[in-house]
Amino acid sequence: MESVKVFEDAAATLEEKCSNLILSNKDIKRVSTILLKEIEIGLCKETNKIADIKCYPTYVRNLPNGKEKGKFLALDLGGTNFRVLLIQLGEATPEKEFASREFPLPDLIRNSSGEVLFDHIAECLALFVKEFKVDKEILPLGFTFSFPCRQEGLTKAKLVQWTKGFTCSGVVGHDVADLLQKAIHKRDDVNIKIMAVLNDTTGTLMSSAYKQPDCKIGLIIGTGTNACYVEKVENMELWDGESDNSNQCIVNTEWGAFGDSGSLEFIRTNFDRALDSTTPNCGKQLYEKMISGKYLGEIVRRVLVYLAKEGLIFNNSSYVRLLEADTFKTKLLSEIEEKPENDLSDCKRILEELGITNFSQEDCAKVRYVCQLVSKRAAFMVAAGVATLINKINEKHTVVAVDGTLYRKHPHFRHLMAQKIKQLIRPGLTFELMLSEDGSGRGAALVAAVADRMDREETNRN
Ligand code: BGC
Repeated sequence: MESVKVFEDAAATLEEKCSNLILSNKDIKRVSTILLKEIEIGLCKETNKIADIKCYPTYVRNLPNGKEKGKFLALDLGGTNFRVLLIQLGEATPEKEFASREFPLPDLIRNSSGEVLFDHIAECLALFVKEFKVDKEILPLGFTFSFPCRQEGLTKAKLVQWTKGFTCSGVVGHDVADLLQKAIHKRDDVNIKIMAVLNDTTGTLMSSAYKQPDCKIGLIIGTGTNACYVEKVENMELWDGESDNSNQCIVNTEWGAFGDSGSLEFIRTNFDRALDSTTPNCGKQLYEKMISGKYLGEIVRRVLVYLAKEGLIFNNSSYVRLLEADTFKTKLLSEIEEKPENDLSDCKRILEELGITNFSQEDCAKVRYVCQLVSKRAAFMVAAGVATLINKINEKHTVVAVDGTLYRKHPHFRHLMAQKIKQLIRPGLTFELMLSEDGSGRGAALVAAVADRMDREETNRN
């Protein structure tokens, strides 16, 4: 990346101090080369055990064929909130969202026990179906559970480890569909049948592939990051499901764990290492921790505090609140970078809200510069990942379905990513980034609908 001079004198030192956050094209290509190798290690049965990128096969294979009918629920759990969605499918209504609700998931619940977590979710589900007066119906549900899981079937997914700050006890190693179904049964006031568990990347891919058959990658850039893609069964030694005519399956890469054995040390900085050491999953999800919404704000905060201690920013200011972890949220990067370069009004407002006193216009410009560096690095890291998958799929045109708050809200993320992907893919290949808003939820409902139709067809045959 070219280094543009934005400040005079002292700022030259500031740029130097931040230079390790800048990735060269050579670095990015190296990330892509290593990632491809690691995906191949993950796909291979013999080496999968030692792989960072686990490449879990999913059991989602069939797309809706238009014969699905009825009301379907989706539950989307994986970030700071969880969502419940009710969609209706039928002849006249190919897909109609009926209702949806977002429920906050307080820290207290995210760090409690599995029982507390699933009881709480079951309670919110019950409130939802009662509010929309569908509590007397038997509702098939697609459960988007966005954490690394080893799937043993469409309705069986064992949690391998928590990510994104969740630590609920008694869930790792257990089937999350079973835990949720038990919590629902325990209440005995609603009739919900879990038909499928899937990752948010899979849901995103499915809901877009439904409309766009060239869609081969599902990507999330939100609280966490991950991608799934369509792989040929012949390249997928781990596949133990049935083979049908398509001979393809969706692989949930769980690429957030890229770097966990050290392969990203050549670009990780002391800011990344210090942040990692404070997380409950220290040493894990290192790629994710350089990219996703749970972490970018905290990286910026750490850089700013470091620069302030070096006397390069906030020289006449008090910045006590900035010393506290997590005070600089990732959404602030989006807000600060939104306006044109010469308009620092939002940055000024945000610094005031953070209780920073007596800062200068130049301080605002420096804060913005740090935000831009951290966002750009994240966008380029994701671009390396997406380009690797596009090259691996190697089809003339690949559509990438993308969802996640960071991607949706950041003013430049999409452009930065697209520009870099273009440079990294093989000549002759083309791609398109397609926003799949709320795709993970809708995808889960669609997958549940297909599973429900197939169950009915099976019953009719017997
Ligand atoms: C999880 C993935 C998920 C991603 C995006 C990661 O922390 O491990 O399963 O897809 O976040 O939500």
